[in-house]
Amino acid sequence: MHERHDAPLAPLTTFRLGGPAARLVVAVTDAEVIEIVREADETGTPLLVIGGGSNLVIGDKGFEGTALVIATKGHELTGTHLELAAGEVWTDAVARTVEAGLAGIECLAGIPGSAGATPIQNVGAYGQEVSSTITDVTAYDRRTGETVTLTNADCEFSYRHSRFKADPDRYIVLRVSFELEDADGLSAPLKYAETARALGVAPGDRVPLAQARETVLKLRAGKGMVLDPEDHDTWSAGSFFTNPILTDEQFAEFHARVERHLGADAVPPAYPAGEGHTKTSAAWLIDKAGFTKGYGTGPARISTKHTLALTNRGEATTEDLLTLAREVVAGVRDTFGITLVNEPVTVGVSL
Ligand code: EPU
Repeated sequence: MHERHDAPLAPLTTFRLGGPAARLVVAVTDAEVIEIVREADETGTPLLVIGGGSNLVIGDKGFEGTALVIATKGHELTGTHLELAAGEVWTDAVARTVEAGLAGIECLAGIPGSAGATPIQNVGAYGQEVSSTITDVTAYDRRTGETVTLTNADCEFSYRHSRFKADPDRYIVLRVSFELEDADGLSAPLKYAETARALGVAPGDRVPLAQARETVLKLRAGKGMVLDPEDHDTWSAGSFFTNPILTDEQFAEFHARVERHLGADAVPPAYPAGEGHTKTSAAWLIDKAGFTKGYGTGPARISTKHTLALTNRGEATTEDLLTLAREVVAGVRDTFGITLVNEPVTVGVSL
């Protein structure tokens, strides 16, 4: 464990934004994590937990409390069962399961951040979500002071949401367990049309694991969604907004607005999202509301590769980023009557 005072937090985030923390502690074992959390709770000190920093917007004033970096290590593969320490780098864990010939998380390649963060917002991409493979999550419960195991059902997973996100100050994720599939070196059936198309197969087909992983990495990179320290187009938090889920009634109203605004032939993206609900695309809404790729003239702009990624061009402040985000939210609301919700967690600021 090591600690510093008045420590910069910006380098710990993929946005490279935010002021300093009064105190910064890096914990490398579960016991250290628990010790710091307990100490903060007993003294009433505000606590900010940092994993990979890929989904975090920290205010320019920084954080008046203890910032705790979870840097625990542990990768145990027993047959098809995988247990990861919260501090493991997610992309490395995916690469290792693919090497081991196991399917279930290969389409989640290239997602920045730590393993411990994946259950919190039920990380998903290209037709896979961690909720399909997670068996249980070991966490420290700040309410009872005990270490508990939550089963998949206990986690209450849904689209980019979970019990951890619903009750953000309660659990500190320590370890995550997955049940993977041994499909003789093949991937899970490909669910995402774009991935299947890129591989020249039909949705539902399986392909060699490494091919699935590499194709996803290529698709992500084409959208600026793979972190590259040299490329400001990737200084982002991936998708900045979640895709709105509308009731059938709301969707009909929205469709009518789309036709009024874009012409009778315009068809908004629609994906089934459970009984009576439809998911539409935030990227599409942003684009069609006039915020096209590369939008902006200031230090915070929309990525040149994907409208859903807001980026720091190198000189931005958090306030610059939030000004852009608010402009996008207001523009989409005025045009389509839908209020976008941010995906990253905000600290000391809000939209
Ligand atoms: N689109 C545009 N303009 C753009 C980009 C996309 O209009 O600049 C429209 C297109 O119509 C496209 C649709 O948006 O068909 C959807 O785009 P895409 O397939 O890239 O997916 P997304 O809905 O924008 C989601 C996740 C991503 C994930 C991809 C692939 C959310 C909020 N985002 O993006 O996750 O990688 O699907 O599965 O659910 C993340 O959460 O940080 C993230 C990157």
